[in-house]
Amino acid sequence: MTIFVLNGPNLNLLGQREPDIYGLATLEDVQTICEGRAAELGLEIEFRQSNDEGQLVDWLQEARTAASGVVLNPAALGHYSLALRDAIAACDVPVIEVHISNIHAREEFRAKSVISAVVVGVISGLGIWGYVGAIEALARILRDRSEA
Ligand code: DQA
Repeated sequence: MTIFVLNGPNLNLLGQREPDIYGLATLEDVQTICEGRAAELGLEIEFRQSNDEGQLVDWLQEARTAASGVVLNPAALGHYSLALRDAIAACDVPVIEVHISNIHAREEFRAKSVISAVVVGVISGLGIWGYVGAIEALARILRDRSEA
């Protein structure tokens, strides 16, 4: 089973960008820990990042047939992209929203996510370990579904 881990705008700069908020780990580090945990759970990871909203929509559409689940850090798009929301709603596989920082403890505009209502769940504020928590949750959700 393959899990898509999708990352939105500016997350390519992780480790250099506002390290006081996002920490010093790079996106490559995140990929490494995601792949490590997924391997332990018997899952494959397809790890991607784009600064382009349309590319993320295309990947969510691809996930409908190519993935068993999606971990998505939408970055700023989560606060306003209805195109992303519609792509998730159409996705048919479970999507978990992850934010490295606690979006509820920052500027007011970040507290609102337009995608949260159409994802299975949200992890926010647990740093890069939120990705690992999301992969573990997906593994459990997929196992429960296959046994149902
Ligand atoms: C983020 C939070 C967003 O508000 C911000 O625009 C990001 C990263 C996070 O991971 O904490 O780019 O999604």
